[in-house]
Amino acid sequence: MKVRALLAVFCALGLAAMPAAAQQPIVIKFSHVVAVNTPKGKGAEYFKKLAEERTKGRVKVEVYPNSALFKDGEEMEALQLGSVQMLAPSVSKFGPLGVREFEVYDLPYIFDNYDELHKVNDGPIGKQLFKKLESKGIVGVAFWDNGFKDMSANKALRKPEDMKGLKMRIQSSKVLDGEMRAFGALPQVMAFSEVYQAMQTGVVDGSENPPSNFYTQKMHEVQKYLTLTDHGVIEYAVIVNKKFWDGLPADIRATLEGAMKDATKYANDIAKKENEEALAAVKASGKTEIITLTPQEKAAWKKVAVAVHKENESRIGKDIIETVYKETGFKP
Ligand code: LMR
Repeated sequence: MKVRALLAVFCALGLAAMPAAAQQPIVIKFSHVVAVNTPKGKGAEYFKKLAEERTKGRVKVEVYPNSALFKDGEEMEALQLGSVQMLAPSVSKFGPLGVREFEVYDLPYIFDNYDELHKVNDGPIGKQLFKKLESKGIVGVAFWDNGFKDMSANKALRKPEDMKGLKMRIQSSKVLDGEMRAFGALPQVMAFSEVYQAMQTGVVDGSENPPSNFYTQKMHEVQKYLTLTDHGVIEYAVIVNKKFWDGLPADIRATLEGAMKDATKYANDIAKKENEEALAAVKASGKTEIITLTPQEKAAWKKVAVAVHKENESRIGKDIIETVYKETGFKP
């Protein structure tokens, strides 16, 4: 027998002797809408690395950044249908799914810092919100941080009144709609992947973003001013298709939970620094002027924006809002 034929026989025998799982890894498609070079992008890559190493290749994680598979607005349905197995949408994206309680995170100025955010994520509210996803065929496995949102436009925004009449892109959230209206702006719901072009062509005048998204989407090329309002957060829920997750072999699921725990620590440890570095990069580009507010100026923005809390009491749930107030020490 020729050497090649012999090799083929050995290979075939070898494969037949292998357990089925080793031949066909379990594939997790992890889709997200931001750049790789962001807290979420890096967190997803780190989860992939840990999951594949620790399951010794029994699980393969395919990460699709930058809306390569699905835009926000489409990805949730894709997860429910099982076209992807894992996502990390901002929690603002759960309102359209009917889980409005998540919009508590969208209330302007409800969080002052990451510690307050973590208190809520790790406390009863975080658990209660994840429980609500189960009836939608979704399991919440972690909260990942991005950062605090700032307002950008082609006009200098120093006072809340400067927002009047501006077309501002928002995520699909009734609370964010109310927030922009409170400032006298005209909110425009739009997919994240379309914002750069909308800014470039003047379809919108501005938006709200944490610096990491602003910089990695190159918005500094098409926005003249960025005001450090820090008026809200972009926080993510890492979620999986429930049927897929529950159907995993128990040892694999436990290993993936461990990998997610460590990836979460990694993502949340880098979030603040990533945003600081992105802001420094925007500054260094010289294309966008960064406006820093005095405490008095910031207080004026806050005064206008917090009106939205009361307006959304029945939508979000007064009890949820009050629990968050207690956990963060917020005074309305
Ligand atoms: C947005 O749509 O602005 C954000 O949700 C994008 C993201 O995932 O950070």
